[in-house]
Amino acid sequence: MPTITVLPHVDICPEGARFQAEPGESICRNLLNHDIAIEHACELSCACTTCHVIVREGFAGLDPSEENEDDLLDKAWGLTPLSRLSCQAIVKEGDLVIEIPRYTINHAKEN
Ligand code: FES
Repeated sequence: MPTITVLPHVDICPEGARFQAEPGESICRNLLNHDIAIEHACELSCACTTCHVIVREGFAGLDPSEENEDDLLDKAWGLTPLSRLSCQAIVKEGDLVIEIPRYTINHAKEN
């Protein structure tokens, strides 16, 4: 089973985390299943950007993003070339290292 390593995030996962992931499920679902409360304002339906993650390792092993994901990602806070919407990126056999950005678009609005 692939391993997901989550880098520390001050609010969501201060110590970081590492767990055995379920292949075939999205990164977002895997995080939620392991009590990592990443935002998911549209309930994983590819209609917000709050589940944005940066895939620091293992990015190339994921299926490529589709156009609607790319369109939404353009609006994400802190976009990088390794960014994905975690509800759309399906875990395969490879290990992943995930960074949850400091802010989401929701935070950006609040501030
Ligand atoms: S939860 Fe809204 S795009 Fe992923």
